[in-house]
Amino acid sequence: MSQQLKQLLGTRILSEANDLKRTISALAVEIGVEEDRLNSIVRGNCDIVETFDVINRMGKKYPIDVSDLYLDEDDCSNGVRVMRAAESAASSRIFNRKDRQGARTPYYDYRDTAMSRMGPFKPEWIKELRVVNDADPENPDVAYNNGHFLHQITFFIGPVNFYWEVNGKKYCKEMNTGDSNYITPFWPHSFTSRDPNQTALILAVTYGGDVRRSQKELYQLGRKGIHNYKLDIRDLNRATTQLIQQHMANENYSAANLVEVARQKGADVDIAKLLDESSEKTIAELQEAAALLNVDVSDLLLPGYNPQEEVVVRFKKKEEGYAFPDAANARYTLWPLARAVKMPLMKGSDIEVLTDEADLTNGFVSSLHSYVYNYGDTAVTFRWQDGDNSFEDVVQPGDSIYIQPFVRHAFGNRGRANGQLFTIRVSGSVNLATQRELSFFADVDRIIESKCWFD
Ligand SMILES: [Fe+2]
Repeated sequence: MSQQLKQLLGTRILSEANDLKRTISALAVEIGVEEDRLNSIVRGNCDIVETFDVINRMGKKYPIDVSDLYLDEDDCSNGVRVMRAAESAASSRIFNRKDRQGARTPYYDYRDTAMSRMGPFKPEWIKELRVVNDADPENPDVAYNNGHFLHQITFFIGPVNFYWEVNGKKYCKEMNTGDSNYITPFWPHSFTSRDPNQTALILAVTYGGDVRRSQKELYQLGRKGIHNYKLDIRDLNRATTQLIQQHMANENYSAANLVEVARQKGADVDIAKLLDESSEKTIAELQEAAALLNVDVSDLLLPGYNPQEEVVVRFKKKEEGYAFPDAANARYTLWPLARAVKMPLMKGSDIEVLTDEADLTNGFVSSLHSYVYNYGDTAVTFRWQDGDNSFEDVVQPGDSIYIQPFVRHAFGNRGRANGQLFTIRVSGSVNLATQRELSFFADVDRIIESKCWFD
């Protein structure tokens, strides 16, 4: 256990004590730890066992969720984590699924690729072992899964059929290298090979978003509670009305109260229309409603429903590639992968590396967690910057990388052929809602707490 982690856990204990309005002295008395000892623990000058003992004692004494206080050791080195192709191969698990005769035969070979406990995704290399000779979504050799909780972005390599089912209707598309998809949680799907003599595989990057991060609370609220939170988002007018009603209930406003508030404020807004599930609300009306409800208009805006975003299929088109950073200084050609407006912080790219120099000045840096897989036939130089230092590694075909947010990175060719990289970025817990709240804080340095709330 590193000294850094002990110090971080100490600051976390201090932060929780502040939240509970306990000074270290008061906390020491209430949890039965000697005050000088507790001060040392908060500074990280202790055995880790003592830190855990304090957290445990706090959990017994106060109505807090102690699992929130356990921070993990950073498993990256200098902001990145590389997984070699051989390590991936060693994690191989073959799973059987039923064929047309009902016999369970090999269907997928799953292998782990780079993942970190700091990152929100679980990217798998999956080889399709079932071979089909048509694109029939009802082919009885195709075994659909039940769908899953995590969002999925898939990158295709070779002749792979992609199958999915939405509202009981099944679909199939023939995919090839560079194509991609996005799958909304719990829609069933499947993948097969069209050619036993070619490599047919996918990189399936599953990841959790805000719902995953709220999982603990949702489990405790139960299914009824979860349903109470669900908006009819596939009907925008109805969902917007539900949201207005939710803000009204939170304010303890009945419809009559809202009419009265509007009258007092001299607001020119039709409350009956705002509460009519079938009516479309204009931005101007939502602004009026927001002012009455003491919220920002952005708190009433929902993404419009696009049925094409249940499952997005995107084929690579050569002409859609663009030069980065610009045509006169083209270091990379980038092809955007499947996008969904409802998932604004999910950005996949297929990257072709054009130069030998892994130049950080013209490299990539993002607020999101990044994942990279070398799917080409050639090794690439991977350079990155963590703090004031820069580092370099060689990423061979089949190697993969996890990169923490704000770690600047770049790639360069090592052989004659251009490097080919599949990359995907998604947000962690710090998404736009978190960012909006955090940015208003009077002191963001003290989020990692350094002092008592009074002297
Ligand atoms: Fe999946």
